[in-house]
Amino acid sequence: MSTRTMDEDLLQWRREFPILNRTTYLISNSLGAMPRGVHQSLAEYARTWEERGVRAWEEGWWELASVVADRLGGLVGAGPGDISLHQNVTLTQAVIASCFDFAPPRNKVVMVDMEFPSILYFYLEQRRRGARVEIVKSEDGIGVPLDRLLKAIDEETLLVPLSLVLFRSAYLMDARAIIERAHRVGALVVLDVFQAAGTVPLDLRALAVDFAVGGVLKWLCGGAGVAYLYVRHDLRNRLAPAITGWLAHKRPFAFEAGPIDRREDGFRFLNGTPNLPALYACQPGLEVIRQAGVERIRQRSLHLTERLIEGALARGWTVNTPRQPAERGGTVSIDLPHAREVAQELVARNILVDYRPGAGIRLSPHFYNHEEEIDFALSQAEEIVATRAWERRVSR
Ligand SMILES: Cc1ncc(COP(=O)(O)O)c(C=O)c1O
Repeated sequence: MSTRTMDEDLLQWRREFPILNRTTYLISNSLGAMPRGVHQSLAEYARTWEERGVRAWEEGWWELASVVADRLGGLVGAGPGDISLHQNVTLTQAVIASCFDFAPPRNKVVMVDMEFPSILYFYLEQRRRGARVEIVKSEDGIGVPLDRLLKAIDEETLLVPLSLVLFRSAYLMDARAIIERAHRVGALVVLDVFQAAGTVPLDLRALAVDFAVGGVLKWLCGGAGVAYLYVRHDLRNRLAPAITGWLAHKRPFAFEAGPIDRREDGFRFLNGTPNLPALYACQPGLEVIRQAGVERIRQRSLHLTERLIEGALARGWTVNTPRQPAERGGTVSIDLPHAREVAQELVARNILVDYRPGAGIRLSPHFYNHEEEIDFALSQAEEIVATRAWERRVSR
């Protein structure tokens, strides 16, 4: 298929996302657009609850978490039973950390200062359980020097929780090199693929990563409330999460008192009742991404992000995202004068983007965005800077 036909083919999906008719939607790094099918999915949830009541558990609700987990697995290169579903990514990290006691000497956790803050907050709190957290700093606010990161991972390192794509700059880390180094010294890598899944092709099994976590609400267009936890097959049954519950028990419906008899599949990492409405809501998005194909999405993403970078540089703005295609995810962070106010004015004009301190305005085209939307957002930003339009909006 030629690039042109491929792009036209991807753009056919626009009609499935109503918000694209009303806004310039360039914020899929934060919340992917809602596919229209979600109305029907949620109505189906309500209908089932209303008509079947408690019988619905037996008629499909208990199965739903594994059905959705396996569908997700197909998008990230995980096998059946490799994934368990949780409420958010921070909690998946908590389940992982609860498998370890951080006893010295192997109690070191290596992280980067560009990590998503929630994950830093979480691991820094694990210091009270004995963790020693070493934070490798970025020098340019875009990437993290690989040699310093690799050097920090040593024989005392237990865990390396790391985003594959850094949320601030969309820097794509060299996961292979990091996993290889970690395994050489006996450490385990927790790869946060939240900013990658759905826009950067992933093959978790081939990567031999120990853990991977992420959510469906960004590039997978699945909405809030579903996060996934992947555990390497041969590692799974050696781990015993302390954050656990009845759904991780081999016989949950026997309601046995006493210690848990753990399952030996991905459900070993579960705890309580699944987030059913979210499991319904996420399915149309996952299906669209499956059909669109992440390889094709990646090609289009590289093309659209290149256009953004060129447009920003031509206007003399600072690009806080790698120029090299192999080093960047789906977002372009652009710093320009009064970036925060400009971002607010863009949103007021229905051009949906966001602002992050240290990054600037983040623009995130997905497979459903036109080239013209990129050009429109850039020219509007230029006009806003030139006219200081936000001042008029405030005084209006
Ligand atoms: C890379 C990354 N990890 C984690 C999170 C937050 O995850 P949660 O709110 O599901 O805990 C985000 C949110 O934007 C993120 O970009």
